Amino acid sequence: MSDTTAVLESARDTAGGASSDAASKATLTLRVSAIRYAANEINVFELRRPDNAMLPAVEPGAHIDVHLPGGIVRQYSLVTAGRDLRAYLIAIKRERTSRGGSSYMHDKLRVGQLLEIGGPRNSFPLDENARHTVLIAGGIGVTAIWAMAQHLERLGRSFEMHYACRERADAAFLDDIEPLAHTRIHVDADCSGKPLDVRAIVANAPADAHFYCCGPLPMLDAFEAATSAVPAGQVHVEYFAPKQMAALDGGYVVQLHRTGQEFAVPQGMTILRVLRDAGVSAPYSCEEGICGACQVNVVSGVPDHRDSVLSASEQQSGKTMLICCSGSRTERIVIDF
Ligand code: FES
Repeated sequence: MSDTTAVLESARDTAGGASSDAASKATLTLRVSAIRYAANEINVFELRRPDNAMLPAVEPGAHIDVHLPGGIVRQYSLVTAGRDLRAYLIAIKRERTSRGGSSYMHDKLRVGQLLEIGGPRNSFPLDENARHTVLIAGGIGVTAIWAMAQHLERLGRSFEMHYACRERADAAFLDDIEPLAHTRIHVDADCSGKPLDVRAIVANAPADAHFYCCGPLPMLDAFEAATSAVPAGQVHVEYFAPKQMAALDGGYVVQLHRTGQEFAVPQGMTILRVLRDAGVSAPYSCEEGICGACQVNVVSGVPDHRDSVLSASEQQSGKTMLICCSGSRTERIVIDF
């Protein structure tokens, strides 16, 4: 089992306001032990405990929060998974529209510095018992998908991985991924600019296959269209950016089941904002409905789901919600908090 876990910064760096003082109360202090080039505008950062002790085990698809100066918190998918880990690797893409995360990591972070890390946490879990698994990655979205592929390879499970990039020089981990028998590389530049044919991949897979996708929004849109007839439990997507706007209509009351406290949620506010303003300590990180940190169970009421984490069936069940972005369709919503 590898002692190294790789983490890639995703387009999340460009996608929303991730300042947080509560993203993860139990943080780890890790030292940047190495930095190396991975692809165009992508560097890999190795993180270890200062005493080189073991790190928390990682499930495939999990991510961590990286706390940066100025209260910035970014989520990075873990590229490999397992126990007995002594290092995490963070491979970070410099985003042209960086709001501070990737530019700090590329321009300021140096070997030897310490970073606070929250997690790992998994909002993109892998069903390793599926009869066949189809993994689809685009660009920097390869991070979580590559973790899944390595895990399935170790387990000897049936899977295929499709990795799309604009040009080969843009593709991190190509030397590791390309030689594997179950992986396919799609380079847009070699196909007259045509994107990966996600519909054909889905159509050619066994009916009971599980599908996973992480990549840019056009790829995710194509994936969701291609899998629209596949049972929801077999379709798994990880978003870097929110799919829709937060529910900000307000006009309802949120009640905390454990304390009985209740708060009016006015127009323009989320449940999370109302709770924080009232001094209630609630976990959160991205505040965009993409990381899963703020998920709570619903005791009564009907959530107005706006997140990119819960599956369609999870949203329909109404048993859980993400309070950073989702609101209430009922006058009162009671959460297990
Ligand atoms: S804080 Fe990330 S999903 Fe709510």
